[in-house]
Amino acid sequence: MKLIDARKDHYRKLAHEQGFRSRAAFKLKELNQSYRLIGPGFYVLDLGCAPGGWTQMAVKLVGNQGKVMGIDLSYVEEIPGAYIIRENIEDEHIIDEITSYFERKVNAVICDLSPQVSGNWTVDHAKQISLNYDCAKIMEKVLAHKGNAVFKVFDGPYSMEFRDYIKKKFARINLTKPNASRKQSSELYYVCLGFTG
Ligand SMILES: C[S@@+](CC[C@H](N)C(=O)[O-])C[C@H]1O[C@@H](n2cnc3c(N)ncnc32)[C@H](O)[C@@H]1O
Repeated sequence: MKLIDARKDHYRKLAHEQGFRSRAAFKLKELNQSYRLIGPGFYVLDLGCAPGGWTQMAVKLVGNQGKVMGIDLSYVEEIPGAYIIRENIEDEHIIDEITSYFERKVNAVICDLSPQVSGNWTVDHAKQISLNYDCAKIMEKVLAHKGNAVFKVFDGPYSMEFRDYIKKKFARINLTKPNASRKQSSELYYVCLGFTG
């Protein structure tokens, strides 16, 4: 077995053993261990949440006093402790749904969006970055001062422009690739700390 396959297998096995719906849950766990994005009692908005690994991990991290809401185009089976809606994050009306659920600003916005891939990398990259701008627009309306965010980015020609855009809104931004992310994939994570607005 190749090292890459072994690693994939390792996280898949862990996810299965620990009852997470996707190995992606371990990416969020790792990001949180390094950057403390989410803490107990946090209100967390999860954009692009299906099948729900990040949402499950977020529920665990926030504990009883926190609140977690997940949004995806796809159906997501119920996750105890989270509120999930099936919507398109490109639709502006979802802001009303978000604010009516939380009734105050949130402490973290976590974005792991991937478009339906077409096989044309340039098109997929552009669409993925465009989804991140939609997430950033939502984030600007709902994130509390000093709040945190994370964005998955398909790295390519438009990533730097997005980084420059988002960087202005936070005290600190870090580019990282968790071990649970496949080495050969172009995905990176922008971890943004301390929202300044
Ligand atoms: C990699 S998956 C997310 C995995 C998730 N973080 C987990 O841990 O299970 C990316 C998701 O983005 C969603 N997505 C893509 N475009 C979207 C949009 N416009 N609105 C809502 N969700 C979208 C897809 O449906 C897909 O489920």
